[in-house]
Amino acid sequence: MSREAQGPILRCRGLHKAFGEEGRRVEVLRGLDLEVERGEMVAVLGESGTGKTTLLHLVGAIDRPDAGTILFRGQDIAAAPPQERAAYRNRDLGFVFQLHHLLPEFSAVENAMMPLLIRGEGRVRARDRALALLQELGLRECADRRPSELSGGEQQRVAIARAIAGSPALLLADEPTGNLDERNAEVVFALLSDLHRRRGMTTLFVTHSARLAGKCGRILKMEHGSLTDPAGNRYNVTASTTQVPR
Ligand SMILES: Nc1ncnc2c1ncn2[C@@H]1O[C@H](COP(=O)(O)OP(=O)(O)OP(=O)(O)O)[C@@H](O)[C@H]1O
Ligand SMILES: [Mg+2]
Repeated sequence: MSREAQGPILRCRGLHKAFGEEGRRVEVLRGLDLEVERGEMVAVLGESGTGKTTLLHLVGAIDRPDAGTILFRGQDIAAAPPQERAAYRNRDLGFVFQLHHLLPEFSAVENAMMPLLIRGEGRVRARDRALALLQELGLRECADRRPSELSGGEQQRVAIARAIAGSPALLLADEPTGNLDERNAEVVFALLSDLHRRRGMTTLFVTHSARLAGKCGRILKMEHGSLTDPAGNRYNVTASTTQVPR
């Protein structure tokens, strides 16, 4: 096995990101480091506006950092050309957001099979796979309904089915339970946590719930532009582990 196949699946080093023009610039991320091991479920807590979504957008190749590297399986996706970034998003990542972002014109199963179609899989196979997933997530009876005909909790579970349909190596979840009542938040979290346990899905879980975060393998807190551990120490990757295999 190569060194990069053994190391953390995700290594972020010295990430900087600012928004706004000169004079009114807001520095959101200031030299953030993060490592996530394969199969980990890491919770990211932090007050509103501290940069949690910004971080997920950088890791998700939706936006680029001003400085720093983001190594996914040893490849720097921050510096990669747009085509490679698009392939990474489609092949390696699953996204779940606070709002489900399901397409209203399509049924649950059509939404769930969308990433597979984008990947070029045949319709029949994609549909079978999406139906199997909906069944697994307790949503088989919702398959042919449109998002407007589903409850908030069901919509979010369909969004999770869509996110994992392509068996992503890394799931990025940005307050997936933020819009749900306590019971549905519990159901959706249990689902993510179960996927993590059973499939070893590496998950980065942004939440405002300290209680749910407490059920994850590791908790980090976003403050002052970087991550801190529960003891309040800045999460810094030590010099010895910053050696990047080339
Ligand atoms: N595209 C943008 N242009 C300008 N400012 C932005 C942009 N995106 C984010 N920001 C600013 O960056 C800061 C961090 O935003 P971000 O969305 O990452 O926070 P967050 O931690 O996810 O907050 P919340 O918990 O409310 O979702 C905020 O001050 C926000 O206004
Ligand atoms: Mg956010």
